[in-house]
Formats: sequence, C-alpha cells, structure tokens
Amino acid sequence: MKIYTAKGAGFCFGVKRAVDMAYKCALKGEKGSVYSYHEIIHNPQEVKRLEAAGARHVENINEIGSGATVIVSTHGVTPAEERELKDRQFKILDTTCPYVKKIHLIAEKLAKEDFQIIIVGDIDHLEVRGILGCAGRHGAVISCAKDVNRLKLGRKIGIVSQTTQNEKEYREIICRVIEKAFSVRQAEVRVFNTICDATGLRQDETVRLAGKTGVMIIIGGINSANTKRLYKLSRKILKNTHHVEDAAGIKKAWFKGCKSAGVSGGASTPDAAIEAAVRRIKDITG
Ligand code: F3S
Repeated sequence: MKIYTAKGAGFCFGVKRAVDMAYKCALKGEKGSVYSYHEIIHNPQEVKRLEAAGARHVENINEIGSGATVIVSTHGVTPAEERELKDRQFKILDTTCPYVKKIHLIAEKLAKEDFQIIIVGDIDHLEVRGILGCAGRHGAVISCAKDVNRLKLGRKIGIVSQTTQNEKEYREIICRVIEKAFSVRQAEVRVFNTICDATGLRQDETVRLAGKTGVMIIIGGINSANTKRLYKLSRKILKNTHHVEDAAGIKKAWFKGCKSAGVSGGASTPDAAIEAAVRRIKDITG
C-alpha cells in the first residue's frame, strides 16, 4: 500500500503557539489554579494532555475558582466574555491566534463605522461567536451563498470569513452579495480576505490526494471545523473518505481493493496522530 501524507497537515502556526503557551502556563501554575476556558484547540487528546499538565478545562466561567489563571483558547472569546474574565480579576493568558484577533479588529472597526457585517462561517463555532461578539448588533452570520437571499442589505456592507472557510465558497458568497448590493443605491461593499493561508494549503493538498488515491483518512477532532471541512472536500471527490479522531478508528475494510491511501489532518491534529495513522495503515494492510 502506497501511503501519501498531505503537505501542511497537522498543527498550524496558531495552534502550535497556543498549545506551547498553554503548556508552559499549566506546568508553571500552582495545582488547581490554572483553567482552560473552552478547549484550547478542538482535539480531545490535546485537551486531555493539557489537563494532565494542570490546566482544568471548563466551558463555564462560573466554574473557575477565584484568583485563577485563565487560558483563553486559540479560537478567541467575545468581548463580553473577556470583560467578565477581567471583572472577576482572573489572570488571563490569551492564546487567541493572531489571525483571528485581526478579524476581531476588522469587525470592531466596521461596527464603529456603522457597516453591516456579514460573517461567513459556522455560527456554532467559537471563532465565529467571538467575531460576532465584536460585530455586535451589526453582525449576521451566513454559511453558504443561498443564505445571501435572506439578508436585507443596507448601504454599507463589510464581509469577513472564518479563518478556515473554503476559498471557492467564500468567493461565491462575495459575488452574490455584490450582485445583490447593486439593487441598493450608492451601496459600498468592503471585502476582507480573512481565510488563513494554512487552510488553503491543507485543503488543496487533501483534494489533490483524494483525486489520486483509493481511500482517504482524515484525522482530527470530530468537533474541529477545519477537519470536518477537509472531510467534506475529500468526500466530494472520493466516496471512500473517512474521518476518525485517532488511528484506532481506522478500519481494515476501507482499504480493500485500494493500491494507495492518503492521510490528512486539520490544523488541530498533532503530528503524532498523523504518524500513528500511517503506522496503523501499514500494520493493517501489511
Ligand atoms: Fe490561526 Fe490559521 Fe491556525 S487562523 S489557528 S494559523 S489555521
């Protein structure tokens, strides 16, 4: 079995930075005094590893003990959550990816200038919730070109996307908004390419491998938006695509009749998980 690994699969710059910062903080802090507010990244193994290092994962600010150090996850938080953490006088370690922070700044600026802000992404995702928080009452989240139909456009429109959005879909949405904005006299549309470069590279590579292999294995957290997107993109091309959280989930039957396999993983998938997947494929097809 020939096994190809997608270039760019595994931890991106922002995830690596966040994980490193969080570990150092967890190991340095007193026992029970460090909390990770939300999953540091959407990968269950990494969340467990950080807990073992001493940072308790919580989803609710009320669960955080007084005087604690709070690690803000790589996806960022809303301004309201940030205010609350500060008001409660926690020490804050903000690991939000700088590229996500940049979108916060864009959204805040657009809101100040009274722009309607269209955020393209998954409304349930933490990153999108943070951006929406910065946009305030000016913000609206959409996930596909069809959603543009339900938008009532004003004269000043700004468009940003989740960092892990697919570029082709984002372009389609932008075109649809611009087209619709033409019916509004003197409309102004400001478009921001806020898709992270690392996302494009991973997606292109995954699509390339899906086109040349018999089976694709996508490794990463089930709730990782960018991993799910890789799965969808690959599956569009190759039905024999499977999303698993770790190597143990890979099944022998998927490789029947295949001469080659591709392995890819999201930005929050550790390199070790990808290596383990390659080893498992070798073992079960060997
Ligand atoms: Fe940041 Fe891009 Fe990773 S936005 S978290 S470097 S995928």
